[in-house]
Amino acid sequence: MLDWKKASLVSLGLLSLAASLPLGARDRSAPRIDMAKARSKAAALVARMSPEEKVRLTWGIMPFSLAPNAPPLPVGVLPAAGFVTGIPRLGIPDLTETDGPLGIGYVMGLRGDYATAMPCAIALGATFNRQLSFAYGKAIGTEARAKGFNVLLAGGANLARDPRNGRTFEYLSEDPLLTGQMVGWNIAGIQSNRVVSTIKHFALNGQETGRKFVDVQISDKAARESDLLAFQIGIEIGQPGSVMCAYNKVNGEPGCASQYLLNEVLKRDWRYPGWVMSDWGAVPGLDAARYGLDQQSGAGLDKEVYFEKTLLQAALSDPAKMARLDEMNVRILTGLIATGVLGDPVAPGGQIDFAKHNDVALQSAEEGIVLLRNQAGILPLARDAKSILVVGGYADSGVLSGGGSSQVHNKGGPAITRVLMSQGAFASFTTEQYHRGAPLAAIRSRKPTGSVRFRPGRYASDAARLAAKSDLVIIFATQWMAEAVDVSDLGLPDGQDALISQIAAANPNTIVVLETGGPVNMPWLNDVAGVIEAWYPGQAGAEAIARVLFGETNPSGRLPVSFPASTADLPRTEVPGMIEFDPVLFGQQPDPGAKLYTDYNIEGSDIGYRWHARTGRAALFPFGFGLSYSTFEATGLATDGRTASFLLRNTGSRKGSTVGQLYLVKRNGVAMRRLVGFAKVELQQGEERQVKLKIDPRLLADWNGHGWSIASGTYEFALGDDAERIGAIKSVKLSSRNWRD
Ligand code: BGC
Repeated sequence: MLDWKKASLVSLGLLSLAASLPLGARDRSAPRIDMAKARSKAAALVARMSPEEKVRLTWGIMPFSLAPNAPPLPVGVLPAAGFVTGIPRLGIPDLTETDGPLGIGYVMGLRGDYATAMPCAIALGATFNRQLSFAYGKAIGTEARAKGFNVLLAGGANLARDPRNGRTFEYLSEDPLLTGQMVGWNIAGIQSNRVVSTIKHFALNGQETGRKFVDVQISDKAARESDLLAFQIGIEIGQPGSVMCAYNKVNGEPGCASQYLLNEVLKRDWRYPGWVMSDWGAVPGLDAARYGLDQQSGAGLDKEVYFEKTLLQAALSDPAKMARLDEMNVRILTGLIATGVLGDPVAPGGQIDFAKHNDVALQSAEEGIVLLRNQAGILPLARDAKSILVVGGYADSGVLSGGGSSQVHNKGGPAITRVLMSQGAFASFTTEQYHRGAPLAAIRSRKPTGSVRFRPGRYASDAARLAAKSDLVIIFATQWMAEAVDVSDLGLPDGQDALISQIAAANPNTIVVLETGGPVNMPWLNDVAGVIEAWYPGQAGAEAIARVLFGETNPSGRLPVSFPASTADLPRTEVPGMIEFDPVLFGQQPDPGAKLYTDYNIEGSDIGYRWHARTGRAALFPFGFGLSYSTFEATGLATDGRTASFLLRNTGSRKGSTVGQLYLVKRNGVAMRRLVGFAKVELQQGEERQVKLKIDPRLLADWNGHGWSIASGTYEFALGDDAERIGAIKSVKLSSRNWRD
């Protein structure tokens, strides 16, 4: 068992290495911050702290309560996700923490303000655009600072291991490289405002059902090659000041008291220099400090505030515990100093250029939209279609957003709030909300002649009768997802599949616009002419959808998750625990005896498209898939296994962007599929561009228990239009290589 002395030494002395790790093929092109220098300043500050001051930064409150008799907040504290009291004597500010990651969280409207509502993270993942991820992060980080927040609880980096996970929309993709790169650039963008970003929820937080007690089973190898690799790449690129640990257990250890995740992987192997904050209500006891937790967040949600008086008493009676307490403070201050929070205090009331941020929201939404089907060139829409019928999805009012702590309110608040649960403290948390900005109005404004009519879609027979009389039908179909609640299957809820089928039978010129948090099945696919996936497109979503429909922008999104043909093709046919554990429990353990295990060793590191490749079951739409109004070609792959180059060409008749995708398809004769590089490139009609990529060697390697190993032999690579449509194979001989992380 780990003793407190060893716990306090984990990572000490190793940190100077962090800034000098070899760059290799790792993507470090985002702005760098000097964590090692920050650490020595932090240590000097900690040396000046009294014992009582040492338990000031180690815990925080949730500065709002939904309970009617809750005590008033400390004066001047903004309602938000978290608050940690600072030490003014030492120039250490209060930590003011807001959610994240899709904009500044609205906390049930308690502040009465608004913020830019960005598209959800999976939409950002679909852009495959690192620079855009940086711009998105920069915008929300600016808003955090202007509103007086210095910690943004952003950086959702869990992989879409199960597409029914209710937070799929808050995460970027199912792939470790794509997630790691996109989240890393996003965090760098946030922190360019001299505020801290987290990366969360570390780790393997792959389902919301029973999230506070589910015990996920996974081997070290499978974890390192998948979910942990995503975090590792994200941390290398983004250098987040803090890592938020997860609610779930991993192989029996609570995420926020996991010797394996926190002390061994994060702090020892990755030499992570910042601090680990807990998720809200995820701290099992004081011992969590020994296992690597540095700060107890939202401490009122735990059974006790372990990291204040109890921690102080323990530290005063034992030098090893005091050393660990010092280290906790050094880490918190390292994160704050490195990101610039300490030198540049935040204050509420700053100016926000909402128009500029709306442009970022619009670009992200547009580039995130994936054109999935376009029969006979039905899209882009002809402006002279005589009659268009728009159906469903509250398209006359707004666009869907995901629920939970990431919920943002843009100006004016939601256009529609659909109550799904009327009882209990979390009832307002569990409402289906539609951002203002109506797709119907955006379509009408582009359609000077002919009629555009609307039907809510509650009565399929009525909508189908009108569909038969229209030239064209656009159905808006929605799937609401939210924190703490998984979806039970990938069907569209509320009878929308039947609605679409009935309308498509009445009029084959039917286009479906999906606003979903992740993959859905499409039993009606062959009966409709067009499908676009717009995800939860944020406050500029209506414009973005209309611009894609009418061809003002050429769609360039690519699926960051596989769309399986059926839930039967997933590693697990059901989300474990969904039947037993009621979602109104919000993931809590109903009684101490209740147990829940999820076996991630079934798929191991073969998540999403890798699982489809392994089982040979083709996806309905594979990872990386996305159509355009133009056509592209990727040719001339040359690679030595370390770098790769190829030519991308626009062979169509209009400007557009494509995503070059490079896959490892075989290792020594064993078929596999791993994305090892990607590049998003905009090309004029007829233009071609040579693209060069570095290949991260970890994507070619196996985790060997102590580090990475590349076995000598033949490695086969191919360019892919997506994870299933693969081009010519290029074989490379590689010699064996082993390295530690
Ligand atoms: C969520 C976190 C969030 C925190 C604070 C938790 O329930 O899991 O993602 O940052 O609450 O709101």
